[in-house]
Amino acid sequence: MMTQTPGDLVIHPRDRRFGRGEPMERWWLARDPVATAFYNALSVTFPKGEGFFIESVRNFRDGAPPRLAGGIAAFTRQEVLHTREHVAFNRRVVDGGYDISRLEARVDERLAFVRSRPPIGSLASTMALEHFTAILAHELLADPRHLAGADPEAAAMWRWHAMEEIEHKGVAYDTWLHATRHWPRFRRWKVKAKVMLFVTRNFMVDRTTGILDLLRQDGLAGPRLWARLFWFAFGRPGMMRKILSAWMAFFLPGFHPWKHDDRALLARADTGREAPAEA
Ligand SMILES: [Fe+2]
Ligand SMILES: [Fe+2]
Repeated sequence: MMTQTPGDLVIHPRDRRFGRGEPMERWWLARDPVATAFYNALSVTFPKGEGFFIESVRNFRDGAPPRLAGGIAAFTRQEVLHTREHVAFNRRVVDGGYDISRLEARVDERLAFVRSRPPIGSLASTMALEHFTAILAHELLADPRHLAGADPEAAAMWRWHAMEEIEHKGVAYDTWLHATRHWPRFRRWKVKAKVMLFVTRNFMVDRTTGILDLLRQDGLAGPRLWARLFWFAFGRPGMMRKILSAWMAFFLPGFHPWKHDDRALLARADTGREAPAEA
């Protein structure tokens, strides 16, 4: 296999709970409705999305080499914990007064479509979305401005999730390499590139629709709001602009998520959060 996952990488599920029993401000991120809606819309996708990732990867675990099988088990455990914490987080978003049902329905529709296709398509979507998640996670940890002024428990939850996404970023990709090991290289690249373009388009359209839905519930709409949202995503702090080159790297021949070794960032984030928790 052509995996470039570091041989000594340990995927270590951290069973943590965040913000239980504490109310969260409706605009929990810097009292900014736009910033809050950006992360809320993302969070709504996780419980069902991650369940789908787990099932897609596990479909191909038979015959996986032992290291990959171990990676799949640890990945599953991490995604299950993320689901639990995003369910709790989303409940707090609802308690803050938002109706997230239309956003959830959109996720259901997308997943129903992918599930109606062959399982290799689900694995390809998962592999593409896991790269997307890993580069968002990297940027979230690399620049503290993204979560500046956030509710502390919410910020800790997002950082914890980001850390684990980086840690297991090679698992879906290695599963894909394993599942397509007999494919000609060009075919693998073609499917991979097509699927990435498809999921990115859907991601942009669906999240934008979801964010605008949430903001409408704040009484915010119109061209000035769109400009504000665009500036948030592509200007400052500019999450979408900053992940662009990492997103493009996916299309290069010989790409692997661990070609970019960001374990140092992960280790820094881990000690930052873990020291007080274990003291
Ligand atoms: Fe996750
Ligand atoms: Fe993940």
